[in-house]
Amino acid sequence: MKILVTGGLGFIGSHTVVELVNAGYEPVIVDDLSNSDPKILDQIAKIIGYKPVFHKLDLCNEHSVKELAVNEPDIEGIIHFAAYKAVGESVQKPLKYYRNNFYSLINLLEAYHGKALNFVFSSSCTVYGQPEQLPVTEAAPVQSAQSPYGNTKQIAEEILQDMIASGSDYKVVSLRYFNPVGAHDSALIGELPIGVPQNLVPFITQTAIGKRQKITVFGDDYNTPDGSCVRDYIHVVDLAKAHVAALKLMQKDNFKGYDVFNIGTGNGTTVLQIIHAFERATGVKLNYEIGPRRGGDVEQVWGDVTKSTNKLGWKAKLGIDDMMSSAWEWEKYISQNPL
Ligand code: UD1
Repeated sequence: MKILVTGGLGFIGSHTVVELVNAGYEPVIVDDLSNSDPKILDQIAKIIGYKPVFHKLDLCNEHSVKELAVNEPDIEGIIHFAAYKAVGESVQKPLKYYRNNFYSLINLLEAYHGKALNFVFSSSCTVYGQPEQLPVTEAAPVQSAQSPYGNTKQIAEEILQDMIASGSDYKVVSLRYFNPVGAHDSALIGELPIGVPQNLVPFITQTAIGKRQKITVFGDDYNTPDGSCVRDYIHVVDLAKAHVAALKLMQKDNFKGYDVFNIGTGNGTTVLQIIHAFERATGVKLNYEIGPRRGGDVEQVWGDVTKSTNKLGWKAKLGIDDMMSSAWEWEKYISQNPL
């Protein structure tokens, strides 16, 4: 079964390509390389033993996407990762985010319309804002988004639901990711931030290897066990496997229309706990300091994973130590073997 993976050379995309192959699917990768490196294709090949089909393509270009649908007619599922994702940048450049994240989605849905495809959408726990109840379930209200980036995820979920309500023959699953971290255990693929990392774990690993002087903990005066923010960190390989589970769910005869799942571990971990877990798992001491809060940060969020366990038949298996040690192995690999 051929699966189109947009953004397939990105962090989550590349790990999902590997898990698709492990599960017997045939990935067809699309990526515009705006936030990824073409050599990731060679890295994937080292893991799976062959180079998957790759189309360098801008999904915002309607003509190119129509051409793709002509050239790749026997696609049976789409996993749509391709999107911009930097929260801060989205506040500075909202139109860039709305244009990219919506045009790509709509072009893709239109190009493959009428083929009864299974469609997996990359959503985010950001749609919950600061939930009133924790752990947050899929039934919690979707808050008015805190950033244009978050808004693109929220509206995209609505676009997909409207499309299903109109009688479209797509089947759609939205996966609301919590915080993906870690890397493949081969250390051949991992997160590849361009410039200064915005996210916690790549900043930690770059500090540990000496690329950054120190890591700042954004606030220790929150109402949490140690005052730093709480997130639900999930190993990217577990997250990748959730996409395989979503495809399998949609392939079942009784699956209809649209569904949405939390993809986390169900556990909350503070920033300081992550720092100490990294030190414990790797034996490397981190130079860190406490700084002011980061604007727009949610105090605490972690997911209820009952629905994904029961209905999706998927559960995260890897713990924080695996996340930290694999992220560290990848950082060491990529520092010694720049792409
Ligand atoms: C956010 C969004 C997520 C989105 C992701 C994309 C929420 C709840 N989550 O993740 O949906 O997909 O951005 O980038 O809106 N931190 C530090 N020091 C650092 C970096 C981070 O203390 O140098 C802290 C942050 O304050 C936060 C935690 O680490 O508490 C995780 O931050 P980050 O990795 O940036 O992810 P989120 O902001 O949770």
